[in-house]
Amino acid sequence: MSDKFSKIYDLSIKDPEKFWQEAADDIFWFKKPTKILNKSNPPFYKWYEDGVTNTCYNALDFHIDQGKGNKTALIYDSPITENKSKFTYEELRSKVSKFAGALKNQGVNKGDRVIIYMPMIPEAVVAMLACARIGAIHSVVFGGFASNELASRIDDSKAKLLVTASCGFEPGRTVEYKPLVDEAIKQAQHKISKMILFQRKGHEVKLNAPVEISWDEAHANAKDTDCVEMNSNEFAYILYTSGTTGTPKGIVRDIGGHVVALKWTMKNIYNIDEDDIWWSASDIGWIVGHSYIVYAPLFKGCTTVLFEGKPVGTPDAGAFWKIISDYKVKSLFTAPTAFRAIKKEDPEGKFFSKYNLSKFESLFLAGERADPDTIKWAENLLKVPVIDHWWQTETSWAISSNCTGIEMMKTKYGSACKAVPGYDVKIIKSDQTLAKPNEMGDIVVKLPLPPGTFPTLWNADQRYKENYMSNYEGYYQTYDAGHIDEDGYIWIMSRTDDIINVAGHRLSTGAIEEVLSEHQSVAECAVLGIADKLKGQLPIGLIVLKAGVDKDNETISKECVQMVRDKIGPVAAFKVAIVIKRLPKTRSGKILRGTIRKIADNVEYKMPPTIDDPAILDEIKEDLIKNNILKSA
Ligand code: COA
Ligand code: AMP
Repeated sequence: MSDKFSKIYDLSIKDPEKFWQEAADDIFWFKKPTKILNKSNPPFYKWYEDGVTNTCYNALDFHIDQGKGNKTALIYDSPITENKSKFTYEELRSKVSKFAGALKNQGVNKGDRVIIYMPMIPEAVVAMLACARIGAIHSVVFGGFASNELASRIDDSKAKLLVTASCGFEPGRTVEYKPLVDEAIKQAQHKISKMILFQRKGHEVKLNAPVEISWDEAHANAKDTDCVEMNSNEFAYILYTSGTTGTPKGIVRDIGGHVVALKWTMKNIYNIDEDDIWWSASDIGWIVGHSYIVYAPLFKGCTTVLFEGKPVGTPDAGAFWKIISDYKVKSLFTAPTAFRAIKKEDPEGKFFSKYNLSKFESLFLAGERADPDTIKWAENLLKVPVIDHWWQTETSWAISSNCTGIEMMKTKYGSACKAVPGYDVKIIKSDQTLAKPNEMGDIVVKLPLPPGTFPTLWNADQRYKENYMSNYEGYYQTYDAGHIDEDGYIWIMSRTDDIINVAGHRLSTGAIEEVLSEHQSVAECAVLGIADKLKGQLPIGLIVLKAGVDKDNETISKECVQMVRDKIGPVAAFKVAIVIKRLPKTRSGKILRGTIRKIADNVEYKMPPTIDDPAILDEIKEDLIKNNILKSA
């Protein structure tokens, strides 16, 4: 390790309280914390427990107080609708404080939950910040999820109010939100008391007052509303993420640690200063969108870009270069799949040559492993460092990265670089001992986790403890496996649970299996993520039918695909359900998913010694060939 980085890193591990006390000096507090870390009740650690602050104050008011009200806070660019706009810090605060007043008028108070189910429009950011302003806890739900998923989030969060829009736009398709929301409300046991809907021009929908009101109606009589004082350990938001079952996990974020840590990352990880333009091409429904479209850049006081478009098809594979060039973006953060999509469409970078990217300095990739081919292609084209970094919804910021604002490190293709200050990352082997360099095992982080990570799960302390903190005492289990090399570089190789990563989106194969099992003809099933050149992984379903089913296989497959789309959403990208005769299992009845995946990916596999009938693997191979998943040898 080189000197500057290693000194900072070592301090963060040896004396985390000192390290994070200094970082806390950089944010606004109504009352500065005197207690930095409470370790009395592991694994429930508390950062800054007597601090009093407000998320929205740090995102907006703080910068206006420093005379930066006229600076651009948010740039909105929507190639899909051909709309563009810019908002200064002052303008954004004005919108937020009015909408905060509108929420109050609808009875939303500190601690109440508000679901935000919206496309990538400025009003979604306004809604998030308005919640923060009045101390309401938002829970943003990604627009690609179906009603069923929305309903489960309404039920778990017991939201008082839901903010939505009349529609979102996908290339070639309008996503009508209102029917999806109506269905979710119908399905949910918990009844929300109000809905505020933003009418998109030309796509207005009918609302049933007084429970359903438009964004404009909600603003009638709304007063500008100030930030409320929040205790550091109160919650800023809940973001649901896939668990191993169909019940999503409500990751919560506490307020003080979130502001401190995210602000710290902007300079230290991303090398972004107040005058820079930053762009995270993700969606506000994901953690990357929460942290790096909305919160971190605004805490830092720089300019953030909100992009309602796709890397390809809106209108072409030059969309990213156009945004970078038009707004003089310094750094972009996106998922590798976005670059694979551009590479596939424009391998020679013909679109790239049309734009001036002289201000562009670095590209950050996360959400899934960045394959070396894609990194090298991007480096070659962009002539800037391309940085793979690793993190999770649970942490809200990178666990490992090249900390470019501290010191640029060399790239090792295929590795997500070194542990970031604050994270003491270790590898634990199957015999429960710590691994030596280059030995594979479960990747864990020594407790306490740094500020900004999840202090618990929403209403589920026990699940938090059992799921993440119990298998390896004193460590947080990331559910990723890999190794750390002799230079401290971390190599993330796979998940250890049934989570798969589809186009940078985290999905649970268990949740898809639950849906397939509901089909009346399905006796049992297995869903696995198979390697895909564009999306990293794609889910496929293998289904075994009940005896005596007389429907044809093709109809059943189609119905299964539709069920997953209806119950989980288009984001699952579930397009293949194959009817097979039987599933390979161990003698004790466990489905051999890993072996099937290896067969589907055409990689070498060992015959599992515990398999009940080895001939099944040949049958599966034939079925995969028949369905074009596998090429015949
Ligand atoms: N609302 C409604 N539907 C949505 C949606 C949204 N916000 N986002 C995606 N979908 C739909 C898509 O329209 C698609 O539907 P279809 O089956 O009718 O075609 C489906 O969900 C799958 O979407 P996606 O996985 O995004 O695939 P795609 O083929 O439309 O696009 C990429 C492929 C690579 C261009 C796209 O995945 C992408 O831009 N990825 C960037 C990665 C990213 O943002 N990751 C977030 C974490 S960093
Ligand atoms: P999410 O919570 O949706 O951000 O997904 C987190 C998971 O995505 C991690 O646990 C990893 O499995 C995977 N992931 C994220 N970033 C990387 C990366 N840079 N390399 C490998 N896997 C990654």
